[in-house]
Amino acid sequence: MLVLAIESSCDETAAAVVQDGRSVLSNVIFSQIAVHAEFGGVVPEIASRKHLEVIVSVIEEALQKGAVGLDDIEGVAVTQGPGLAGALLVGISTAKAMAYARNLPLVGVNHIEGHLLAVFLEHPVEFPFIALAVSGGHTHLYRVDGIGRYTTLGQTLDDAAGEAFDKVAKLLGLPYPGGAVIDRLAATGDPAGMKFPRPLLHDGSFNFSFSGLKTAVLNHVQKNPTAREGASLNDLCASFQAAACEVLVGKTAAAVKTTGIKRVVVAGGVACNSALRREMGRLAGEENLELHIPSPLLCADNAAMLAVPGDHYLTNGLTSGLTIDALPVWPLDSIAERLRKKF
Ligand code: KG4
Ligand code: ZN
Repeated sequence: MLVLAIESSCDETAAAVVQDGRSVLSNVIFSQIAVHAEFGGVVPEIASRKHLEVIVSVIEEALQKGAVGLDDIEGVAVTQGPGLAGALLVGISTAKAMAYARNLPLVGVNHIEGHLLAVFLEHPVEFPFIALAVSGGHTHLYRVDGIGRYTTLGQTLDDAAGEAFDKVAKLLGLPYPGGAVIDRLAATGDPAGMKFPRPLLHDGSFNFSFSGLKTAVLNHVQKNPTAREGASLNDLCASFQAAACEVLVGKTAAAVKTTGIKRVVVAGGVACNSALRREMGRLAGEENLELHIPSPLLCADNAAMLAVPGDHYLTNGLTSGLTIDALPVWPLDSIAERLRKKF
């Protein structure tokens, strides 16, 4: 099936054309980062307006780059949630209009489900696997038994991992979004330069907490006036990053140990982080795990990833109908129930 996928949950307007949930014909991403950077974070109302402004041209570009016409499209998949309500509605309304006008089946897809399955666009992965979803809004550990079969093992109790990177970057005076900037500065810093806490690392749960780590960085900066300068800044970034990654890797290792599932997928924007990729690789080597991390373009927000579950649902006749609404909060565990009811 040739699927057009549309994503507008946060600050990326994206559209992709994907064949059979596997072959990416095009994957167009319009990033709004420049628009939000001056505010130090995403401004929901501005995000919605920008999505509205560019979504049609992003879809046109996706069709053009995929060398297909609207007549060739056989189904539409759109992010239904979680995300910013107003931003989601732009993608959903566009998808509905196209499905209605062209008499195409439509399916609303969970954004995090897209992240978890993005790696399938590069190679197949066997079930079950442990998935670590780390993005700007999520830090979750899941057990994945199949498409649509997700069980939450643990999640953050406060900030998401990406949110912690962005907030630490902000207090260090670095531009938004700060995750990639911290990653770059950390490359020449000493990860043992400062000893930051590893919150909840040995609490026996699969939950995370990053707000205390963020406060520890703030306290360090307040006590050390030169902490944000030169080599000290690089050491600070490397030390914060090492603490965050140690917790993410440690909890994943614990999930593997408890479940006995030796196959791991790491997904979401923070999966671009070079230290996290390296440390996960080290864990995989030590514990003899099968590790799958998509290439950075497929870790960050994109529309192609939605076509993996989207294609699966559409080809199994699980369509959403034209009455779907945005689901700003949408836990992955509830998808099994939705599938039982056949949407
Ligand atoms: O998945 P994503 O693109 O959007 C959401 O669904 O949230 O994730 C965005 C998050 C941001 O917080 C960004 O700072 C973070 O991913 N990020 C990184 C890196 N690249 C992006 N965090 C750490 N290191 C990176 N290299
Ligand atoms: Zn995302």
